[in-house]
Amino acid sequence: MDNVFDFKTVDISEDGESLVILDQTLLPGEMKYLHLNTEESIWEAIYKLRVRGAPAIGAAAAYGIYVASGRFKHQDAGEFIKEVKRIRAYLETSRPTAVNLFWALDRMERAAVSAAGKCSGKEGCVEIIRAEMRREAELIHEEDVETCRKIGENCLRLLRPGMGILTHCNAGALATTGIGTALAPVYEGLRLGYDFRIFADETRPLLQGARLTAWELSRAGADVTLICDNMASCVMKSGKIQAVITGADRIAANGDTANKIGTSGIAVLAKEYGIPMYINAPLSTVDLTCGSGEDIKIEERSGEEIYKMWYEKPVSPEGIKTFNPAFDVTDSRYISAIITEKGIAEPPFEQSIKKLFE
Ligand code: MRU
Repeated sequence: MDNVFDFKTVDISEDGESLVILDQTLLPGEMKYLHLNTEESIWEAIYKLRVRGAPAIGAAAAYGIYVASGRFKHQDAGEFIKEVKRIRAYLETSRPTAVNLFWALDRMERAAVSAAGKCSGKEGCVEIIRAEMRREAELIHEEDVETCRKIGENCLRLLRPGMGILTHCNAGALATTGIGTALAPVYEGLRLGYDFRIFADETRPLLQGARLTAWELSRAGADVTLICDNMASCVMKSGKIQAVITGADRIAANGDTANKIGTSGIAVLAKEYGIPMYINAPLSTVDLTCGSGEDIKIEERSGEEIYKMWYEKPVSPEGIKTFNPAFDVTDSRYISAIITEKGIAEPPFEQSIKKLFE
């Protein structure tokens, strides 16, 4: 299904010197690729959501730390590793909730340290370390493509042709380097002739549903209907929705799931209306160090995103107090299943999630 996409969310440039991302802040109006190779520009791109969605952030950070390391002057392996650690710590401050950022940077640092352990003291060690880092970043990228495909296949087993599916935010191709997580079964279904009807929440305040999900699904030829966030109850009640599918930014050991703000409200509604609530995510989004959702750090962003960013003039009085958490936590009791590349976890999640890691 990869061929329906005429864009690449995250990649490395042909000369290997830059991280290349599709600037998602300009969509759907403009398709512009940015070539980034400084740690500051990569940090900014993640912070400003030019690249966003947990798996895409992970892949961007992996290529990012690799390309940024090309600018170090050191030829000493020990000094080089110190710099890698410094950039890792810096990039980790860009967005706190999506665990894939931390997971990918951890893999990159471990690859660098392991290579350094083998060549330290020998000539050309820094080049050897960098080659290993590039290989690791490419692996993270390749694995993500395959993981998305498997999530799509696994989730499709729970769905039937003709279903109405509600999704929130964007957990599609733009949020990964493959066919997405929440949208992966939609693309798989499209290939097999399932006539899903997708309802996309606009997803205030940053409008990932309106700008990104609506864009990528309609480009792929899917039947997609855009609704405002506050219409979810109405479409559920009227019988238009048979499944809710979203992605995740971090899943705790007990199944509590952090995802885009608004997800928990939809999950509560889904339970009330007897509609299954599915969370599609790679195992790399599961953070076993978080026992429950209470341990997940939630990013808070500027209030201007609520009242200023999309309007010619501010829509609220100057100086208004705001609260703008980027994510919320859906308690696991509202989740019907968590669909990963390794299989499907069902309640009780503590046991079923642990089993997926075996
Ligand atoms: O703030 P964003 O746009 O990065 O939030 C994205 C989401 O909440 C996605 O649902 C999540 O990262 C999963 S993407 C496969």
